[in-house]
Amino acid sequence: MCGIVGYIGSKKAVPVLINGLHCLEYRGYDSAGIAVLENKNIVVMKDKGRVANLDNISGINDLSSSIGIAHTRWATHGKPSQENSHPHMDNSNQFAIVHNGIIENYNELREFLSNNGYHFLSQTDTEVIPNLIHYHYTKGVSGKDTFLAAVKAAVDDLKGSYAIEVISNLFPDRVIVVRKDSPLVLGKGKEENYIASDIPAILSYTKDFYLLDDNEYAIISKDHIQFFDSNLVEHSKEVTTIEWDATAAEKNGYEHFMLKEIHEQPNAIRETINNRLQLGEKCTFEGLTITKEYLQSLNKICIVACGTAMHAGLVAKNIIEKLCRIPVEVDIASEFRYRDPIIDEKTLCIYISQSGETADTLAALKLSKSKGCKTLAISNVIGSSITREADFTVYTYAGPEIAVASTKAYTAQVSLLAVLAIHFAEILGSYAQDKLEELKADISRLPTKLETVLGLEKSIAEIAQKIYTEHDMYFLGRGTDYYVAMEGSLKVKELSYIHSEAYASGELKHGTIALIENGITVIGILTNPDLAPKSISNIQEVVSRGAKTFVVTNQELTNVSFDFVIRIPETNSLISPILSVVPFQLLAYYISTAKGLDVDKPRNLAKSVTVE
Ligand code: AGP
Repeated sequence: MCGIVGYIGSKKAVPVLINGLHCLEYRGYDSAGIAVLENKNIVVMKDKGRVANLDNISGINDLSSSIGIAHTRWATHGKPSQENSHPHMDNSNQFAIVHNGIIENYNELREFLSNNGYHFLSQTDTEVIPNLIHYHYTKGVSGKDTFLAAVKAAVDDLKGSYAIEVISNLFPDRVIVVRKDSPLVLGKGKEENYIASDIPAILSYTKDFYLLDDNEYAIISKDHIQFFDSNLVEHSKEVTTIEWDATAAEKNGYEHFMLKEIHEQPNAIRETINNRLQLGEKCTFEGLTITKEYLQSLNKICIVACGTAMHAGLVAKNIIEKLCRIPVEVDIASEFRYRDPIIDEKTLCIYISQSGETADTLAALKLSKSKGCKTLAISNVIGSSITREADFTVYTYAGPEIAVASTKAYTAQVSLLAVLAIHFAEILGSYAQDKLEELKADISRLPTKLETVLGLEKSIAEIAQKIYTEHDMYFLGRGTDYYVAMEGSLKVKELSYIHSEAYASGELKHGTIALIENGITVIGILTNPDLAPKSISNIQEVVSRGAKTFVVTNQELTNVSFDFVIRIPETNSLISPILSVVPFQLLAYYISTAKGLDVDKPRNLAKSVTVE
């Protein structure tokens, strides 16, 4: 996701725009830019890098314009670079736009515009928009406001998500905006008006906001704002007064980035699987050319990663093996690179990394390439080192993950890998298509089910209040629940500094059960109906030794009682970690806050471990 800002009024626009971008950098920070109307021309200043770099662009602070738009980018199409930065203009330099979202049909639109004499300076999906506006404007559009009508005609050609701001030197007294699936708010000032992706960017200027709805247009001039529906029928809109203070607003009202990112997971999954998961059609991965012959030639797939990313890989192992019947090995990158792995051109190596900068993962990837393996990167940061090194890259679109503890990246990775496994199975024909369609439907329902799990936040916070003084915790699970136990245990450790271990339920009695004594907290995950009875008896073994038990399950538990039970929605057991991990993200968060620790920046940790 990206951050966009706009201003029209009596002040100089540039300081307002840059200040707004700084507040929105948590939404994206790999490049930034502004466009203003200066002496009847559009002036665009933009570059790769953080918002602070804009101050180094010569002349930017001499711009006296009082109307402008601005953008801080989280790249989705085209690596971070000056030409891929926003704003983008049409070929005639009469329209400039900034955009947050993904235009799914941009390839067709580029082809259409190229066939009509347009050319492109960037690799972005966004650049089709200003040229479409110019195309429709010059072709002639009808309507009271031809600027608005041209923008609508262009938007009608788009498929995907967007929040768009447009300025034009032909219409120097207004900014036009429209949104669909990407957020946009308008700030109402005195003789001036503001636009932003989120409230934080402009809260220091006004507390009065209009929250734009999907498919709603607005014409913003310095002394009034007009609203239109998708048929350009004008309507009025209520003002919303925001009581937040500015600092709280950067986290969109959440106390910490981690809690905000936990709650962003439904959208992170939607953005990631959108236009890849096709119900009733084959899944598609743009830019990924994997053939049936290649997949049939493989003797195994290696998934290599660190920490939470590795835990996502473990879940993916089960899914790929089940659907594709290709053996999958999962390795910790720092071990993989030194164990002289048996890999060659018949091995596909998948590298998972949220940051795309983890040193061990990057080094392991280079090792794979030196052995002739094809390499596929799964990352959340466009143009990161690992994505530049890999043969193929498939991105999660979770948006920037600021908190050190990874949450939305994990669920986005597992969702993406599940769709990728289906994609491979459809290429191979290795799994019944009707069963694949059922799994696709289950995946498409995950965001809504995850919202249900988030609704349990209060109960989980109450449990955290009862166990935050513990010194040891044990997580138990079987099969894919064991992988969730590993991730839950890691969350508790890295956020609350409580010693914690994850065990395969059936393994505890082979030694570690010696540590279980009165009052020790044991946490069980039970989501697989076939394995639940065995896991329940494992947990009862610790109950009989005095343990306090907290169970997360999607099953109806009868004739057993545990100290705490959190019931989550059922789903296909292959993808249940996407739901069952969330209670542990929340539990770790609330234990950490109960202990008064630094949730977003836990001690000794870094968001990206770029050293060995
Ligand atoms: C998880 O909460 C940690 N932040 C850490 O384990 C992280 O997952 C690991 O360092 C890998 O990072 P990456 O995904 O950026 O490669």
